Parts: sequence; C-alpha cells; structure tokens
Amino acid sequence: PTIHVITPTYSRPVQKAELTRLANTFLHVPNLHWILVEDSQRRTPLVTRLLHETGLNYTHLNVETPRNYKLRGDARDPRIPRGTMQRNLALRWLRETFSLNGSQPGIVYFADDDNTYSLELFEEMRSTRKVSVWPVAFVGGLRYESPKVNAAGKVYGWKTVFDPHRPFAIDMAGFAVNLRLILFKPQAYFKLRGVKGGYQESSLLRELVTLNDLEPKAANCTKILVWHTRTEKPVLVNEGKKGFTDPNVEI
Ligand code: UGA
Ligand code: MN
Repeated sequence: PTIHVITPTYSRPVQKAELTRLANTFLHVPNLHWILVEDSQRRTPLVTRLLHETGLNYTHLNVETPRNYKLRGDARDPRIPRGTMQRNLALRWLRETFSLNGSQPGIVYFADDDNTYSLELFEEMRSTRKVSVWPVAFVGGLRYESPKVNAAGKVYGWKTVFDPHRPFAIDMAGFAVNLRLILFKPQAYFKLRGVKGGYQESSLLRELVTLNDLEPKAANCTKILVWHTRTEKPVLVNEGKKGFTDPNVEI
C-alpha cells in the first residue's frame, strides 16, 4: 500500500530545517505520498521549491487557521488544537481523490513536522487493517506513553498519567488508519470546537473504531519507533528591529 503522510506546517524560522529533516526521512520510505498542508493563505514559494527539489511524491495544499483560533491557542486557552484544519483538509482531499471501489490500497498517517520518525515505523504501519497503534516517546510528561496490550495481543487501555480515561489516550503520532476506513466513514474529521486538551485524537478515532479494533504494532507496543521531539525556537535577538542579515537569503 501507499503510505499517505499528512503533515500540517506553518511559516517560522525553523520551518525549512524541519521539512528538510522530514524529507530526508521520507526519501528512505518506499511508496510514500506526502500530503503537506500549509497553514497559510497561499502556498508559499519556500515550501513549493522545497517539495519540488526533494523528488518525493507529494501533494501541496494550504488552508489558513482563522486568527481567532490561533490567538486563543497561545495565551488563554492553550488547548486550541494546532494543525487541525490542515489535517481535515487532507482527509477531504483523500476522499475526493480516491474511491472505495477500485482505489489502490493505502495507509494514512499524521506526521507533524517536528517529530522524529524511525524507518521501521513505516514498515510497521503498512499492514494496518483498520487502525494500528504504538507507543510515542516524550509525551504526557513521561518517557513514553503507550497503549496497554494484554497477553492475547489486544489493546485494553492506556498507559498514561494524563487522563487515561480518554476514549483514545494517544498522541497524533501514535496511530495509522487504513485508507479504506477513511473512505468508508466520510463524515469522520477532527473536531475543531469544544475539544478538551488531549481529546483531538479521540475526536477522530471514535468515529472510526472501537478499542477492540485496534491493532498493536512495534512488538506489541514494546518498542519506541517515534519521538515527540520539539525544536527549540532560535533566538535571533541580534537581528534587531530592522534585521541584520540579508532578508533575501532563505533560511
Ligand atoms: C501536540 C500534538 O502532538 C499535535 O499533534 C497536536 O496537534 C498539538 O499538540 C495540539 O493539539 O495542539 P505540539 O508539539 O504541541 O503537538 O504541536 P506542534 O508540533 O507545534 O504543532 C502540530 C503540527 O501543527 C505541526 O506539524 C505544526 O507545524 C502544525 N501547526 C502548528 C500549524 O500548522 N499551525 C500552527 O499555527 C501551529
Ligand atoms: Mn510538535
């Protein structure tokens, strides 16, 4: 199957570095299709050029998150989800592009632009029948969070400290979905409003599966194949108000 990797991204000093690292990873993955969705009014020249130069198979989309969502996202309510409208646009694109009958097999994975992905992860998710799951490192104040898997290889709960009673207490990087299921449930999207912190993933997954359907990967969820890394924001104080370096040089 083709792995459709959905990545929301937005303009900031480290964007090109993040996307370069991601592309370098994806170039090692056979049969990968990168759906990169810019959080912007237009598709930017920087991202357009970068995608073209990677030689990857890609689709370049854009949708801007309304200002009022973003502003709240920072200060008063840190729970306004980031990248949600972009992921939803990619889901819509998949549904408009592929049909249930005659569509080629596919897997859908949501890969944020700052995380770290092992190559093994992509091989694990390739056999996803409905929804597969695995641990993610550096989330929820733990070394890693993980689905709980019983001796029979069934997921029965969540090894998390933060709200383990969520229907799906799992980070965005911790699951993949078969494309057929995405097409079969055309109403399933990430909820934008009224989603408490940590419930974004559940808002989509509960439309698609029940706990009983989940397929544990990564050696029954005992191996870490993805890390929720976050890139430090560079301190550019010496640029001053009017800048110091040549603004025409792309970073
Ligand atoms: C955590 C989760 O891992 C994300 O999947 C989830 O979207 C996010 O929280 C949330 O619910 O707010 P975190 O590291 O805090 O992730 O978020 P970022 O990595 O900053 O953003 C997630 C993705 O959205 C990234 O690919 C980023 O480039 C993109 N993004 C972020 C935008 O497209 N627009 C923004 O304004 C901010
Ligand atoms: Mn992140």
